[in-house]
Amino acid sequence: MRRPYIAGNWKMNMTIEQAEQLAGALVDGVSADTGVEVAVIPPFLAIPTVARVIEGSAVQLGAQDVYFEKSGAFTGEISAGMLADAGCSFALVGHSERRHVLMESDEIIRKKLEALLGQGLNVILCVGELIEEREANETEKRLNIQIRAGLEGLSSDQMKNITIAYEPVWAIGTGKVATTAQAQDAHKFIRNLVAEIFDRDVADAVRIQYGGSVKPDNAAELMAQPDVDGALVGGAALKPDSFLGIIAGA
Ligand code: PGA
Repeated sequence: MRRPYIAGNWKMNMTIEQAEQLAGALVDGVSADTGVEVAVIPPFLAIPTVARVIEGSAVQLGAQDVYFEKSGAFTGEISAGMLADAGCSFALVGHSERRHVLMESDEIIRKKLEALLGQGLNVILCVGELIEEREANETEKRLNIQIRAGLEGLSSDQMKNITIAYEPVWAIGTGKVATTAQAQDAHKFIRNLVAEIFDRDVADAVRIQYGGSVKPDNAAELMAQPDVDGALVGGAALKPDSFLGIIAGA
């Protein structure tokens, strides 16, 4: 059985003090025996504060992005080593806002993923199609490109450190959630693709989160799908009640 995994991506929101308060509320609300793995993904500047608040709790800490070089003259960037030093156990790579607003390529995303693994960190690899691609029946084609670029050539052992997040770009922050059938179809396609690249054991073990307008009232139905193993939550992760409601749905 794959353990449900819910991660809250706070994106570019909140002051350090607000992040501290939200983290505190989640520490109080998440018990170690829920059977659900829970993580928060604050902005970089709030990471050390949130790390202190969640220490010893069941809540895990990740970063929204990383740079692939180890150190040096890369103004404005943050390395995987710095994230580990600050208390992160994982980072996102390839979030749709990085792909489509910050113009990151599959090649850059792969380098970031390898930098994280090299540092002993876990990775949530985000993939997903644009609305134009879905309407042109090219969802699977896009997922195939993104998953192969991200994962091909890794070892089965490295795959233990990878979670995949399927996030249809048209559903992120729009209130337009994928239907349970659309989510399940995409997740099943991704799992079969992982089986093709690796083997059935790796595919059965890898967790695939759904992301895109997940809310307390749709979380349980989405996560009841056989291939949906959790959620990557944006907007609804910014308030303790809605995020805890989603965890309860899992
Ligand atoms: P949303 O964001 O829940 O606000 O749609 C999801 C995400 O970007 O991970």
